[in-house]
Amino acid sequence: MAKRGSFGSRFGTVAAVGGSVIGLGNIWRFPYVAGENGGAAFILIYLATSFLISIPIMLSEFSIGRSTRRNPMRAFNKLAPGSKWKLVGYMGILTAFVILSFYCVIAGWAFEFLKESVFNQFNGRSADQIRDSFNGFVASGWKPVIWTFLFTVASAGIVLSGVEKGIERYTKILMPMLFVLLLGMAVNSLTLDGAQAGIEFLLKPDFSKITGTTVLQALGQSFFSMSLGMGAMITYGSYLRKNENMPRVGAMVAFSDITVAILSGLAIFPAVFSFGISPTSGPELVFLTLPNVFAQMTGGYIISVVFFFLLFVAAITSSISLLEVIVLYMTEELRLSRKRAIFYTASAITVTGSLCALSMMPGSKLSVAGMNLFDLCDQLSSNVLMPLGGLLIVLFTGWVFSPVKFRNEFTSNLQYGVKIFPLIRFLIKFVIPVVIAILFLNRIGLL
Ligand code: PHE
Repeated sequence: MAKRGSFGSRFGTVAAVGGSVIGLGNIWRFPYVAGENGGAAFILIYLATSFLISIPIMLSEFSIGRSTRRNPMRAFNKLAPGSKWKLVGYMGILTAFVILSFYCVIAGWAFEFLKESVFNQFNGRSADQIRDSFNGFVASGWKPVIWTFLFTVASAGIVLSGVEKGIERYTKILMPMLFVLLLGMAVNSLTLDGAQAGIEFLLKPDFSKITGTTVLQALGQSFFSMSLGMGAMITYGSYLRKNENMPRVGAMVAFSDITVAILSGLAIFPAVFSFGISPTSGPELVFLTLPNVFAQMTGGYIISVVFFFLLFVAAITSSISLLEVIVLYMTEELRLSRKRAIFYTASAITVTGSLCALSMMPGSKLSVAGMNLFDLCDQLSSNVLMPLGGLLIVLFTGWVFSPVKFRNEFTSNLQYGVKIFPLIRFLIKFVIPVVIAILFLNRIGLL
């Protein structure tokens, strides 16, 4: 078994896990999915699923990882030897691959926007011009492909340098900066002309439009944002110190994740309405909106440069955690050297990522059942693979994982874990599996 390091300190732990969790999911995906699903009511469901479903799943994953100190496949195999549970680990690798394929495209967009803000290209442009230039960028095909490639290379480079040095160093300072910046942007957006409509969109729930599919989307968003259901948190759990207050780390990470998503919503939606952009613009939403915000903001030039730089950092710290899941499998299971594992993975992602980028060009034939490849990967991971992985993980934790071991992980360093343990275990054993199963059955029309 490869020798495993642990995170050095509580803050380092939260920063490293936070680096995985906080990413494009919060800033790019949350506003676009909330926009497509009607705003406030969706957000309330997202909050409820985050607290009642996602946090317990995160704690399950941490427990599985820390109690075994293995990669996800071996962790399952160690806890339930010879069983099929290790397939959940393999599914996680597939999920990581599907996510990376579209993730690096959006991170590439962030790269392009960083370049455009450095060259002050948003300045003086109208909302229509900003839209035209963005559409031209996506339609060019080759530009997004180059950025996708560069982003993949950058992530691979960081993964080569190893867990602690590679991950912690970058996130400790930069994520809090992103937080402060978003806060400033949210305050600025609230003062825009016509911001009221955006605030109402965020705060006035209309439950009449909520269907089972909306709830599944909210759950999927929460899983995606918290990196759940695919082994990333099992992997991070395996690096958690034994005396670390695990529920507290989970709570801190979840809280930061949710706050960043909500701040992003507050920064985006008032501007969406103020600049006459459709909240249902889809994956483009944030990229069509933010340049307008920066163009009118005092200090907009420097803020846009810093923002897109931090967005890029947030994306890269997430993508390295995705890469890490695949690389760990290749090095520990397939016995490849780390260098090779990283090279093969990055090459494959460059190909699938480029195909996703090209599938977004108008008139592209890269689609399956009317959905372009990019949307397919996005939907498949958040609304199918991650909820399915989450379901299997709670079933495992609730019914297979020894309750004593699970409890030990929970209560290793605290009294507070003792108090919440029964509630969390009840949710994991009964409530969460039933809810996810109902949502799936509903989605395929059986309920
Ligand atoms: N949570 C990350 C984000 O919000 C994406 C991610 C998913 C990272 C799964 C790792 C594992 O951007």
